[in-house]
Amino acid sequence: MKVFTSIFLALLISCPGRDQAQKFSAMQKNIHPAQIWSDTNGNAINAHGGGILFFEGIYYWYGEHKLDGKSEAQYVDGGIHCYSSSDLLNWKDEGVVLTVDYKDEKSDLAYGCILERPKVVYNEKNKQFVAFFKLYLKGVGYETSNVGVAVANQPTGPFIYHHKFHGGGSPNGSGDFSMFRDDDGKLYHLTVRKPDKAFVIGRLDADYYYPEGDYRICEGIELHTEAPVVLKRKGVYHLLGSGSSGWKPNAARYFTTDNVLGKWTYHGNPCHGYNKIDSVGIEKTFGGQSSYIIPVQGINDAYIAMFDIWRPENPVTGRYIWLPVKWKDGNLSVESYPHERDRQKAIQQAEKDGGKNIQSFMEIQDRVADQSKGLYGANQFGPETWTQFMNVQTPMMQNMMNSYVEQSKNLFVQMQDKMQDQTRAMFSTFPFGPQGAPGGQKEDKS
Ligand code: GAL
Repeated sequence: MKVFTSIFLALLISCPGRDQAQKFSAMQKNIHPAQIWSDTNGNAINAHGGGILFFEGIYYWYGEHKLDGKSEAQYVDGGIHCYSSSDLLNWKDEGVVLTVDYKDEKSDLAYGCILERPKVVYNEKNKQFVAFFKLYLKGVGYETSNVGVAVANQPTGPFIYHHKFHGGGSPNGSGDFSMFRDDDGKLYHLTVRKPDKAFVIGRLDADYYYPEGDYRICEGIELHTEAPVVLKRKGVYHLLGSGSSGWKPNAARYFTTDNVLGKWTYHGNPCHGYNKIDSVGIEKTFGGQSSYIIPVQGINDAYIAMFDIWRPENPVTGRYIWLPVKWKDGNLSVESYPHERDRQKAIQQAEKDGGKNIQSFMEIQDRVADQSKGLYGANQFGPETWTQFMNVQTPMMQNMMNSYVEQSKNLFVQMQDKMQDQTRAMFSTFPFGPQGAPGGQKEDKS
């Protein structure tokens, strides 16, 4: 029976659970704004100017893939890099899902083009993932911009380049943008028009391929507003953006409206606090520029604002600042950084609650590995003995396998739950409010 169990355990090693356990060994437990963020392979995440898509229980982070060893002045853009995660902390590298064209000089994506700020939206009608990005053709520079459009049948691509269009209804196109999908599925392109830098809004067609109708000026939004991020909460549209100073950070700006096509109200700079790591305050948005706001799943009213710290001399080393969004009187603010003491306390709690199950899961996997080592190493069975043994034992083993698979499935589910709890606990270190748990949030009176 002991041998039999060992054989079974050996078989179990090759099941997907093993990979999963290895992945968790490099587990991140917290977000560290402005510091190097490694993916599950231990490599620094390379997804700048990015955005997040949540699809079927998984978050996908799409960003600019910056080529190693190049500066912004030296053709640094390599395409769109995608990472996936179930907890917003641990990101699996899904590779470059849209690459620039290194062979065809005439391609719109010919290497040397500028490909920036990718955002991916799911089009329910076509069951298609549509990627949008700023596209400046090779040799043209920043004068005339296009919106590049690429499509995929699954979130991890591959994305196929589809076409480009000039945003803003201008022959010079438009620059930084937000693709905002309203509750009714309508997709809006909010962007800074070239060359006058007016901030405008247009609606895309039902395929999310081209603008439909004219763009209109967003009344109340200052000229030169870049890096816009739009989200809707309790019927109000919120726009977080920056001023216009290229790769150099400037102060964030914030606007709201009840009607996305109507007049916006300006609320000044919504940031508070200080980035101690880089010694930068809110006059420079902690050294970053906005790129997206993530609605956190499973936590009521929780959002995370994403910013990029650009490093134009060596863009691949650019960092990310992720900070919690706080709500007061219906308006958002972004605070860097929560009190270290509270953060540490919450991390410890998360470890206490969430770590245990994951730990035991990994122990099981390790035991499996140990037991099987003897089996393979000692070479106890020759191929014939093995075949004979298998013929006799297969039905029995099948049964056991099924029950083990079932058990390990349950373990996975438990583990996922624990991870989600852990994520929640982690986010409670951010000032989402004292409760931080689903449904536990204080209602905003606004
Ligand atoms: C920023 C913009 C970036 C990049 C940069 C170039 O304002 O947000 O995406 O285009 O300018 O200078």
